[in-house]
Amino acid sequence: MQGNLVEKKVVFNKKVAKDTFLLCIKSKEIASLAKFGQFLMIRLNRRYDPLLKRPFSISFIERPDRIFILYRVRGRVTKEMSGLKEGDPIFVLGPLGRPFLIEDNKRIILVSGGIGIAPLIWILKEHPERAILISGYKDMDEVIRIEDLLRGDYQYRIAVEGDSPFFKGTSVDLFKSYLEEKGEKGIILSCGPYPMLLEVYNICKEMDIPLYLSLETHMACGIGLCQGCVVETKEGYKRVCKDGPIFYANDLIFRE
Ligand SMILES: Cc1cc2nc3c(=O)[nH]c(=O)nc-3n(C[C@H](O)[C@H](O)[C@H](O)COP(=O)(O)OP(=O)(O)OC[C@H]3O[C@@H](n4cnc5c(N)ncnc54)[C@H](O)[C@@H]3O)c2cc1C
Ligand code: FES
Repeated sequence: MQGNLVEKKVVFNKKVAKDTFLLCIKSKEIASLAKFGQFLMIRLNRRYDPLLKRPFSISFIERPDRIFILYRVRGRVTKEMSGLKEGDPIFVLGPLGRPFLIEDNKRIILVSGGIGIAPLIWILKEHPERAILISGYKDMDEVIRIEDLLRGDYQYRIAVEGDSPFFKGTSVDLFKSYLEEKGEKGIILSCGPYPMLLEVYNICKEMDIPLYLSLETHMACGIGLCQGCVVETKEGYKRVCKDGPIFYANDLIFRE
């Protein structure tokens, strides 16, 4: 989808963990068009201040008209976003990017680090019987509880590096232990910081498991025009906003 920013209204914006918020906006059109893995470009005002819009994954949808964005406060725009209240305007463009196509019947293992959980939640919500989400956090106060986002029962496992009642370690440690325990493979989709994605890639390569990655880069236009978001692939540079953000990991070139 291309086009102009459209004004929508905030339904709610609530804190769900340290520096982490769940924003709900109302749009029947986006809810009917959106697919797994896609994102929106967002601006908080009609002025060009800051100049660039910011990309956010569509974390999940409740049809007919609720769009959920899970975000962590990072800099100027996300700090301002955290102050949004019910009824405030928000300007969005999308849904954008190539969707993630889920193969039939296979087990889906979702692996995230930190706020990398955001683009994976919708798949967990729509495929509760065959999807499991393995999420890692640095500290207990960063942990995102699934019951703060979704109603129902889900296969959600948590790893925390600091002190906590959960698995001690990273999401990659928990992912490895899960593979050993269950001997299950299926299909993997992962999102998080680059070093974590590299570790997940190395595990999947060694075990010959298909892996897809949801990549995050800096973006300017979000619609394929500026080349500001490119990543290196075996077929040359590709735009994360237009050719991604989901990529088959074997197509990418990783730099240690
Ligand atoms: C396709 C896509 C989907 C995304 N989905 C989400 C999401 O669902 N939830 C969420 O919280 N964030 C998501 N992000 C990241 C989000 O776009 C940034 O956090 C946001 O743009 C920060 O804006 P800001 O003005 O608050 O921070 P800025 O002031 O722009 O930046 C603050 C600091 O964060 C760094 N930074 C900003 N963006 C990135 C990035 N993409 N990668 C690495 N470092 C960065 C900057 O270099 C700077 O140091 C996504 C990014 C992409 C490309
Ligand atoms: S952000 Fe402009 S081409 Fe991707």
